[in-house]
Order: sequence, then C-alpha cells, then structure tokens
Amino acid sequence: MNERRTLKINEKGHLEIGGCDSVELAARFGTPLYVFDEKYIRDMMAVYRDAIKAFYGGKGLVLYASKAFSCLAVYRIAAQEGIGVDVVSGGELYTALKAGFPADKIFMHGNNKLPQELEFAVSAGVGTIVVDAYDEADMIDELCAAAGRSQDVLVRINPGVEAHTHAFVQTARTDSKFGFSVSDGTAENITKYILAKPHLRLKGYHCHIGSQIFEKQSFVLAAGKAMDFIAAVKADTGFEAQTLNIGGGFGIWYTDEDAKLGAGDYAGYLEALAGEVKAKAAELGLSLPFLVIEPGRSVVGEAGVTLYTAGAVKDIPGVKKYVAVDGGMFDNPRYALYQSKYTVLLANRANEKCTERVTIAGKCCESGDIIAVDCALPAARRGDIVAVLSTGAYNYSMASNYNRNFIPPAVLVKDGSAEYIIKPQTYEDLVRNDVLPDRLK
Ligand code: LLP
Repeated sequence: MNERRTLKINEKGHLEIGGCDSVELAARFGTPLYVFDEKYIRDMMAVYRDAIKAFYGGKGLVLYASKAFSCLAVYRIAAQEGIGVDVVSGGELYTALKAGFPADKIFMHGNNKLPQELEFAVSAGVGTIVVDAYDEADMIDELCAAAGRSQDVLVRINPGVEAHTHAFVQTARTDSKFGFSVSDGTAENITKYILAKPHLRLKGYHCHIGSQIFEKQSFVLAAGKAMDFIAAVKADTGFEAQTLNIGGGFGIWYTDEDAKLGAGDYAGYLEALAGEVKAKAAELGLSLPFLVIEPGRSVVGEAGVTLYTAGAVKDIPGVKKYVAVDGGMFDNPRYALYQSKYTVLLANRANEKCTERVTIAGKCCESGDIIAVDCALPAARRGDIVAVLSTGAYNYSMASNYNRNFIPPAVLVKDGSAEYIIKPQTYEDLVRNDVLPDRLK
C-alpha cells in the first residue's frame, strides 16, 4: 500500500478504504461489492498530468484508457481532472458522452471498429480516431465527406517492441491483429494512403507495447523506434508527424511479487519517455511531437477492492482448502483467463495472523471458477468478509452475467462517505432483453 492509497487497517482490526470501514460497507451495500477509492483515481490522473507538465513542458495529453473501468462516474472524474480518455467501442464512447465528457478529448481505438461505431464517432465529433485498417481510412473519409468536415487521425504502428511484465523483446516482424509494422514498410504505406485522403488530417502515430509492464526501458525503446520511424517517413515523404501516442501499460501492485510503485515512480516513466523523445528529436532534427500516453490499469487498478462474503469452506486433506465466496469469474475473470495473482485478506479480521494458504473459489458451476490461489489467510469461516485487493482495473469492465449471477454494484468512497456509482442489478434486469416469440407462447 502506498501514499496515494487510503487502504489501512482501523482500530477495530477491519480493512478501511477511503475512510470507510469495509465491514460496514459490506453490511450496508451487500456483497459482492466493488469499492473504488476516489482519491487514488484522482491522484493517479494528476500524477501523469503533472508529469507531462514537469518533464515535457505540458506539450501532451494523458488519456485514461477507459477499457480498464468504464462507467459514468469515472469519465466525470477524468473530465474534472482535465485529462482525455481513450474509448474502444460505441458503448464506451456513449458512456463518455453521456457523462458529459468533451468529445474533442476522446481518442477512439479498435482493430475492427464497426461502420456504425465510426459513424457515431464522426458525428459525435470525437477528437482523434486511431486508424488500424485501410478500409477504415476509407470509411472515415467518406463519413467526413458526407458531413462536410475533416477528422484528425493517428495510425497505429508496431515499433517492434513487445513488453511483458518484467522483460521485453525486440521483434523484426510482428504477429498482431493490431497496427502496421514499421519494419516491413506497411506503416509507411498506410501513411501515404491516408495522406492522400482529402478529409483525413494525419497527426501522427500510436503504439501500445503491452500491459502490466514495469521495465522503463521498454517504453523508452518503443518511443525511440517510433521517433526513428517518424524521421524515416519525413525523409521519404516530407510528412512529419506532430503527435506521438505511446499507449499505456504501466504496471501495478497485485502481490508482493510486483513492485509497489509510488507517485514518483509513475512520474519517472514519463520522465524517461520525455527524455528519450527530446533526445531523439534533437538527434534526428525533428520538432517535439505532442506526447500522448494512455494509462488504464495504473489509474484505477489499485483504487479498487472487491468485498465478498465467505460461504462454504472445503478442506481436502493433503490437497488444498477452498474458501468459496459469493462472487466468482463473473465479477473477476482474470484468474480464469490469465492465472492472475491477487492479495486477499479477511476484512473483518485483518489483524489476525495468517495460519493457512487457501484457494478462493467462486460460486459458478465451473471448476476453473477461481479468484485467487495460494492466499495466506487466518482460518476463514462462513460469514467472513473477504477482500481482494487491486481489482479496480479489468474486473468490472470484464464482468459478465454468467450463470445469471448479478454483476456486482460499485461504490465510490472518499473521506468516509460511500455512494453507488453502479447500482445493483435485479432479476428483472437479467430477463429485460429476453423475448418469448409467439410460437413459444
Ligand atoms: N492503450 C491501448 C491501445 C490498449 O490496448 C491498452 C490496453 C491501454 C492503452 C491501457 O493499458 P493499461 O495501462 O491498462 O495496461 N484485460 C487485460 C488487459 C488488457 C489490456 C488491453 N489494452 C487484463 O486484465 O490484464
């Protein structure tokens, strides 16, 4: 836990977040419950925003990558913090606009944006669309022709750097559904194609090298390669990119296997990136591009805690002990998908000594429905409040109604107050779109 996070253990031995006793939150709002720490989210947005000012003279923009957690409240907070957002679907775009988010500060991504999503983006006046296919450029150009306007666009490129949590590799050829490779000429080809489109204003390039990355050097390397590419395109075509969007991917703490980064560390990524871009610009005789970053996980991930109630406890002698909770892969599919690790504690007995290692299972009819494995806990009993930390990113946004379970509600906590930002679902919600055709009646 670090200085921006309001998580602590209070005098009752309960987990506290945002000044709220999590056991009281569980009693008041029920479980499972997503809890979001407003201070943490605002502080992280400010860290990146201020780092662009401090290390790059403010010539840039932070976009919150809203795929990490999308709801009205988070877009409203981003708007209040003066940053932009990235959206990847009509649904995220709709939510942002509904929250009153300024369209000109929205970047639209996606490797296969649907025609109707492009139409929505163009008619809403989305600031920048990141092009990832030839015929997408055609579609945007045609939409703009019909609307009598033009559109700022970036091209998604693959600079040949693939980053993983603690390592990165340089690749000559990229096998990815995203982007155009700089190494095989395809990125330059689409550049020329877009430059010839009358209604598209090509502003520059975007790349995103991965997620949950700690290695600073991987961002630096990607930025350097992107700058080399900008210089090569300028030499060949005369076009000099004005914008460089380096994507997101900054890592967060899930367990003590991960670094616990403070505000200064996150600002440090920007410092390193800005330093490389400036050095490359000087070396290559380029003007400083407008620098964009798109953090998602690191803005909301550590801001979130999920509260569950423990139910069945099953001890399989010589094998393992399962503690089942009232949630599961429908509110957090990340163990099922990626074998992700989490830190778990008993929120109502947070001071007690951990005496065993258990697996936290969900309630779905599926043996892979696990939330976390190998969790050190005091002996859990039915009724304990189980808290899973760092669940703010890619949990709610990847939740489902599998087994017709409810996607849990979410509350935003700050200075001892808690309010819904996502209401609980009802059984009626689950059948809302179901239809019985006449022949089944
Ligand atoms: N920009 C682009 C173009 C992206 O594709 C992503 C994430 C981001 C920004 C934000 O990256 P972040 O700062 O959140 O790492 N569901 C996975 C994560 C998928 C990330 C996809 N792209 C998970 O739960 O780990």
